[in-house]
Amino acid sequence: MFIGLDLGTSSLKAILIDASDRVLAEHSVALTVERPQDGWSEQSPESWCDAAREALRALAGKRDCSGLQGIGLAGHMHGATLVGADDRALRPCLLWNDTRAHAEAAEMDAAPAFRRITGNIVFPGFTAPKAEWVRRNEAEVFERTKKILLPKDYLRLYLTGEHASDMSDAAGTSWLDTGARDWSEELLAACHLTRDHMPRLVEGSGASGTMRAGLAAEVGLPQVPVAGGAGDNAAAAIGTGCVKDGAAFLSLGTSGVLFAANAGYRPDPDTAVHAFCHAVPDTWHQMGVILAATDALNWLSRLTGQSASALTADLGPLAAPGKPLFLPYLGGERTPHNDAAIRGQFLGLDHATDAQAATRAVLEGVAYAFADSRDALAATGTTISRALALGGGARSEHWLSVLATTLGFPLDVPAQGEFGAALGAARLGRMAATGEGAEIATPPAVARSIDPDPALADAFAEGHSRYRRAYQLLKDF
Ligand code: XUL
Repeated sequence: MFIGLDLGTSSLKAILIDASDRVLAEHSVALTVERPQDGWSEQSPESWCDAAREALRALAGKRDCSGLQGIGLAGHMHGATLVGADDRALRPCLLWNDTRAHAEAAEMDAAPAFRRITGNIVFPGFTAPKAEWVRRNEAEVFERTKKILLPKDYLRLYLTGEHASDMSDAAGTSWLDTGARDWSEELLAACHLTRDHMPRLVEGSGASGTMRAGLAAEVGLPQVPVAGGAGDNAAAAIGTGCVKDGAAFLSLGTSGVLFAANAGYRPDPDTAVHAFCHAVPDTWHQMGVILAATDALNWLSRLTGQSASALTADLGPLAAPGKPLFLPYLGGERTPHNDAAIRGQFLGLDHATDAQAATRAVLEGVAYAFADSRDALAATGTTISRALALGGGARSEHWLSVLATTLGFPLDVPAQGEFGAALGAARLGRMAATGEGAEIATPPAVARSIDPDPALADAFAEGHSRYRRAYQLLKDF
């Protein structure tokens, strides 16, 4: 038996699986995000530990876990968790969608070493600029900082007492030499840090430590190894078998991700495509990341007072895009614009624009943002011919049809079951415990495929070019 813990932005999910990937038990605990100022996004690291303890205890209560062999971790990436000498967080974690450090990010990005060594733009949401923001604005906290940990690695510290990270998550800090899979002392020095501030690096499928005896006894589990694990997207790729070159998924979660596995390291920072290590040795991946996917629909839901599922329930068959146009940049955008200051737009409204028309525009706007990521990936030489559709938004058949037609490739919907980051984490836990390799990361059964509608392809291509024109006109507004 293996446990996967997935620290998501809105909840921590724990699953217990057997060696056939069958889910034996699961438990989720809700988490909250604080937004104390525009562009800020924070979470309490202690809430992650409380949630993990509750979830592990719940699994042990649901099944006899005496056969447990390993645990794997996945988590939202890029968070800066500053830890003091007592191994406690010194302040709330600055999350992946916190853009307050845009000035620090722009400064770092202007120094050629960052793009050259990390293979990525220094985005404001990445860890290094946020740590630099703390140094400049909360000097006393920075002084007391002994380690800077990614969110799931703070959870690991709580579970095992070890300071460790894995390559896929470390690649999102702006401190990793992504090709060499090691911390860059040059980049750390540029941020007034040394290797001592960093956790030890392990591969996602390697062991990072063992569960603390006291905690194991408290939650009722055997003391087993904890794997390196992965950032949530690389973990989802392990859960969906996206490891071989060209395998891809599209995730419609809070953020939107177009993910492609690569056999080699394929950086191209000018496109704002992310090039990161994968969670298994000698593999890498690329992704286009849009900051608001289901978050855009949730915004419309708050505005209209109707739930996201009510808004998307009666949209009927796929039709050509309407007049209203939505740019989903509610909290800035990463791929392809790298712009923390840009904000969303609703255009082309008239007296007839009702909640349904606005919903269509939001779904289409997110699809156009994905089309921008498809084009950015294509500019690096990565062409996607089909992708698995994941995340809460993939429950909307209408949205998937809009996406497939806009993107011009089929989307495969996995059959019911577990296939996300929690499964990937559990599989990495298994690899660390048994020594098995990436061959156990098999793809899920596909329930159905959503094909592009050729009759509407031109209409959606025209919608995408209207969206691009609107971006050009409004980017400085
Ligand atoms: C990836 C990214 C998000 C977060 C939150 O670069 O920022 O996908 O990991 O899920």
